[in-house]
Amino acid sequence: MKIESTIQGLSESLKTARTNQKIIGLVPTMGNLHQGHLNLVREARKKCDIVVVSIFVNPIQFGPNEDYDSYPRTLEQDSKLLEEVGCDYIFAPTVEQMYGNQPRLTNISVSGITADLCGLQRPGHFDGVAVVVTKLFNIVRPEIAFFGEKDFQQLAVIRQFVRDLNMPIEITGVPIARAEDGLALSSRNGYLSEEHRKTAPIIHQCLKIAEQDLQQGKKLADVLANIASTLTQAGFVIDYVEARTPELQKIEEFNQNIVLFIAAKIGTTRLIDNLQVQHNA
Ligand code: PAJ
Repeated sequence: MKIESTIQGLSESLKTARTNQKIIGLVPTMGNLHQGHLNLVREARKKCDIVVVSIFVNPIQFGPNEDYDSYPRTLEQDSKLLEEVGCDYIFAPTVEQMYGNQPRLTNISVSGITADLCGLQRPGHFDGVAVVVTKLFNIVRPEIAFFGEKDFQQLAVIRQFVRDLNMPIEITGVPIARAEDGLALSSRNGYLSEEHRKTAPIIHQCLKIAEQDLQQGKKLADVLANIASTLTQAGFVIDYVEARTPELQKIEEFNQNIVLFIAAKIGTTRLIDNLQVQHNA
C-alpha cells in the first residue's frame, strides 16, 4: 500500500494500472475510519483490481459553525486499518493540493432532493460534497465508486449528478454498518459522552419499532409522531423525522417501499440514521 499526497503522484502511480485496463475503485472518505468505511473498502476489493481510498476532510462541505476544525484526523491509525483490508493507494491531499490558491468559480448544485432533510440545516453542504466528489472522480478516474447508505441523501445526490452529467462511473451503495447495540457507526460517535453513547442507540430502536408498526398497519403519521416523542423524551433535540420514497419524494401513506430518516442532536452531537422499510403488498 502506498500513500500519495499529491494529484501528480497519484496519477503517476495509476498510469500503469490504467494502461493495463485494470478496474480502479474509489472509496472517498474523510478519514477516522471505522468498520462502516472498511466495509466499503472490502466491497471495492471484491469488485476492483486497484482500490484507492481518499482521505480528505473537505472544508467546503462544513458550515461556519460546524466541526471542520475539530474533525478527527487520524491518518496513521487509518493507514494501518487500510493496510489490513487490502487498499492499494491512500490519496491524502492537503487542502491546498485540492483547491489550489486561485478562487474556485465553479459549483455543482443538485436541486430538489437537496432542499430538505440534511440540506435544510446544512445549506451548501451538498454542493460542497458534489464538488469534492467530482474532483476526486476526475483525479482518480475510477470505474466504480463506493458510498454508504448511512448517508442516504448524499448517495442519492451523487447518483443524480453522475447521471445528469454523464459521468462514466458506476456508483455502488453499501448497507449501514452498526455497533452491536444498533448505533450506526460514525466518526462523530467519538464526540459522545459515556452517558450520551448509551442513549444514542434509541435512534435505531425507534426505526425498528416504526418498521414493525408500519408493517402491522399503523398509520404513517402516527408512527412518525411516535418516533419524535420517544426521542424527545430521551433527551434528543430533533432535526427531522421523515418518511420518503427511496428517490426522496415525500409520501403521506405507507403504500410502497419507503425509507425512514432521523436526524437528531444529543448534547452537541448531531446523529443521522435511516431504515429502508419494505411494503409487502
Ligand atoms: P465520511 O463521513 O468519512 O464517510 C465516507 C463514506 O463512508 C460515505 O460514503 C459514508 O456514507 C460511508 N459511511 C460512513 N459511516 C458508515 C456506516 N456506518 N455504514 C456504511 N457506510 C458508512 O461521507 C463523507 O465522508 C464525505 O461527505 C465524502 C463523501 C468523503 C465527501 O467529502
